[in-house]
Order: sequence, then structure tokens, then C-alpha cells
Amino acid sequence: MHSLHGDHLLQRLQQETEGALHQRLFRCLRSAIVEGILPPHSRLPASRDLARELAVSRNTVLNAYEHLLAEGYVQARTGSGTWVAATLPESCLNAHSQPVAAADMPFAPVRLSKRGAALLGYASASPYQWGAFVPGVPDVTAFPHAQFSRIQARLNRQPEVARLSYSSAGGCEELRSALADYLRVARSLRADADQILITEGIHQAVDLVSRLLCDSGDRVWIEEPGYWGTRNLLRINGLKPVPMRVDEEGIVPATDCSPPRLVFVTPSHQYPLGAHLSLARRRQLLSLARQHGSWIVEDDYDSEFRFSGQPFPALQGLEPDAPVIYMGTFSKTLYPALRIGYLVVPKALVQPLRIAAAELYRGGHLLIQRALAEFIREGHYVAHIRRMRLLYGKRRAFLIGLIQRYLGDDFLREFNHEAGLHLVLNLPMNCDDVAIAASAHQRGVRVRPLSQYYMQGPTRRGLLLGFACVEEKNMLPAFTTLRQILIEFGITQAGNVHPLP
Ligand SMILES: Cc1ncc(COP(=O)(O)O)c(C=O)c1O
Repeated sequence: MHSLHGDHLLQRLQQETEGALHQRLFRCLRSAIVEGILPPHSRLPASRDLARELAVSRNTVLNAYEHLLAEGYVQARTGSGTWVAATLPESCLNAHSQPVAAADMPFAPVRLSKRGAALLGYASASPYQWGAFVPGVPDVTAFPHAQFSRIQARLNRQPEVARLSYSSAGGCEELRSALADYLRVARSLRADADQILITEGIHQAVDLVSRLLCDSGDRVWIEEPGYWGTRNLLRINGLKPVPMRVDEEGIVPATDCSPPRLVFVTPSHQYPLGAHLSLARRRQLLSLARQHGSWIVEDDYDSEFRFSGQPFPALQGLEPDAPVIYMGTFSKTLYPALRIGYLVVPKALVQPLRIAAAELYRGGHLLIQRALAEFIREGHYVAHIRRMRLLYGKRRAFLIGLIQRYLGDDFLREFNHEAGLHLVLNLPMNCDDVAIAASAHQRGVRVRPLSQYYMQGPTRRGLLLGFACVEEKNMLPAFTTLRQILIEFGITQAGNVHPLP
């Protein structure tokens, strides 16, 4: 029996706008399979029924099914319909770190390169970027658009020629300079404006750094569990991510394996478990990197949001001339579609990275970068962060209150420091968090299973709940639905209500 409702699929289909209808349907079904909404061994609806439900032609559905078959997401059993494959292409990739070769796809509709097939095989960006409880998304409606537009209008009236051309200098000079001042104070960084390169977010920064500093097959350490976006990008670029366990002090560096080329870490707020990298581990990592000529790549994605005490300082500033490449982003402090982030790099890397960035991406968007510089200089950036810290702090407290009252303290993960845009709902190890998340998705509650953040199989189970983009009044119904699902999965009981501590 398939567990995907027609109206849910129709909603997804309406959100998909690129390509022919059968391609859009293929992508919707594929993401439903990858997200576990259509779990392995489940049966897809008969093509005639689905065509009727979606009001599309049967050929459209058949084409989409054929494409899923070609890419190994489903199997056709003669006389008994189409079934989700027991092992998905993604799981094969996770298990063996090897992409599905294009040649292995029986009826590939387009002939992809091996590189292209690997890229598509690793792709896992979610179409859901808003609502209860999408993790890691800020409240984009709170951004002061009017204020920003006024700055833009003023600067755009007579733009200088240089801002309308390609940039090969690492991005807008004023933005680099404003950032250098901000980062020195807010994140304790040791760097001047020349060491900053503006990128289109951390995503592009990871791409750039891994392409410039690594060869295919090079080993890079990543946190386990860790951010799947970085992991995928590294694999797409042919590198070999080696997962390193995380405990309450952050990443646990291995001492018994060959040294990595790069070490990717989230020291201020480990993603997703929330640990803060201890001073001893910071020193250990730095000494290891110096000894082996490795680079530490510090992903400082959301550290502005600490709800008690000061934000933890960045690893980059701990020692002079630290072998650290620092990455920051405006995706969490302002909004993700801005696509502006930055690299702060040791002096020796500035020129090579600038040349590589200009060669790979060409630089642009200088007018908006200039406006952002002004936004920072005029004090709006810090004021916005301060406002959002208060807002998210309240939303986080509200969600924690619901968890404590209706589920109990055991459901709060011990690493959750008072920081960030999400928290981890702790679930028992013997439960299937992927199935729980799939069931929540089906009922319109967007949660991510903790299992998805592991490369080598989960050692903990849970759900990531983003609270930043959800008003309290919308949190309550979504939480009630989630609790109902946990009751149905036998994880909590209907009558359980705990006194608030
Ligand atoms: C840990 C971590 N790093 C980086 C990013 C991506 O940042 P950007 O939007 O700047 O590419 C994310 C996005 O969710 C993230 O969670």
C-alpha cells in the first residue's frame, strides 16, 4: 500500500516549476522516496489511478515511473505493479561512498557523465524551506526589507562602472572591510579585509576550497553526525570524507589514521548535535593541522544565535597564523536566498583563492554586496541580529516548554546548548526516526530525522526541529500532530503530561 496522498503529491507538483510535467513528477516521487514518505518495499499507486488523482495523462505517470526505474529507485514486478526498491541509490552511495555509474542505469533517459551521475546521485536538497519545523531556516519575514531597499535605491541611482562588471578581487571592497571590522569584534577573528573573499554562501566556499586544495581521492575529515550538504559537495568533487565521531566536547580527532588534507568542523555550535568544541580539542586540532600541513575549515554558520551569555569566539582567532579557513554566511542572520557568504583565509591563500574564484564563478552581485556593506556600517545588521536573537530565544523557550510538558525532559538532547535555530528531539535508539519523519511530512510537519546526518549509520536517533521560522501560534498545532505521531509509534503515551520544571 502506498502512503503518499494524491493531494500531497499534487501540492509538491505545483511547487515544481522546472521542466516537462513527467520530469517534475519524477522529481516529486523521487524526493518522496528519498525522504521515506514512500518507504522501501512500498507499492506505488497504479499509473491509471495516479493519473486520475493528479489530473494528468497516464503517459506522464508512466514516463515518470520509467525514469524512477532507470535510476534504480523502483522495481517493476510483472503483474503486480511498481515497488520502491529495497536499496535506494542514495543508500548504496552512503554505504560505499561510491556513486552509481551512469552505465549501471539500465534505461538512462539522458546519457550522463560519470561525474554527472554521481552529482545527481548525491543530490539531497529539500524542497521544504519554510514552516514548522524546518531546521536551519531563519524568519525571513522579519528582515527589514524596506530599510534595505532604501539603501539599495540610494546606491543604485548612479552605480559606478566597476560595480557593473566582473569582480576578480574577492568581492566588494566595502563589504570585505565592513565584515573585517564586524568579525574582529563579534567573532574574535584575526584578519584584515584583504583576507576576506565574498562567496555565494558557504556552499560555494566549500566547493572552492575543496577544488583548490584537494585532489581526487584526498581524505578530508568531517563530523559524524554532520552537515550532509558539505558531505555531498565533497563527494561530488571526488574527495573521500572520513567521518569523525562527535561527543559533548565536539569532534574527536582520530590519532591512528593517516592525516587528512582538510578538517571540516563546526566548533561554535556542532551541527546538528549542538556541542561547543572545547578548548583542549581546539588546541589538539590546531596542533594536528600544523604537524601534518592540513587545513582546518571552520564552518561558523549560526553562531550569532546564542540565547544566554556571549557567543563563543571562533577557532580562527585562537592562535596567531592558525591554519584555519573560516567560512561565514548571511543565510542564517538575514535570509538564505541572499546567497552571500564569506571566506576568511590565511594570507598565503588569498591570491590563489581569488584567482580560482574568478576563474570558476566570475564575481558579480557587487551592487547588492555594496548595499549590504552599508547595512552593516549603519548598524542595521547588528540591530537585526539582536532582534532575531530575542525572537528565536522566545520561540525556542516555547518549544522546549511544549517538549518538557507533553513529552518529558528525556526528549531533550544533552548537547543542546542554548544556541542556534534548531534543537534535537531525542528518540530511543530502537525507533525508526526516518519513518517517523516521513509520517510527519505526510501530515504537513517538516522534521528531519537525525539518522540522515550520519554517514556510517546512526548511533543516535532523533528529529531536528527548527523553531526560528515558526510563530508560537503555529508551533502548537504542529507539535500536537508530532506528539500524536510519537504516540502512534509507541514512543510516548497519550496521558503523559509532565509538570514544567
Ligand atoms: C552547518 C551548515 N553549514 C553551511 C550551511 C549552508 O550555508 P549557505 O546557505 O551559506 O550555503 C548550512 C545550511 O543549512 C548549514 O546548516
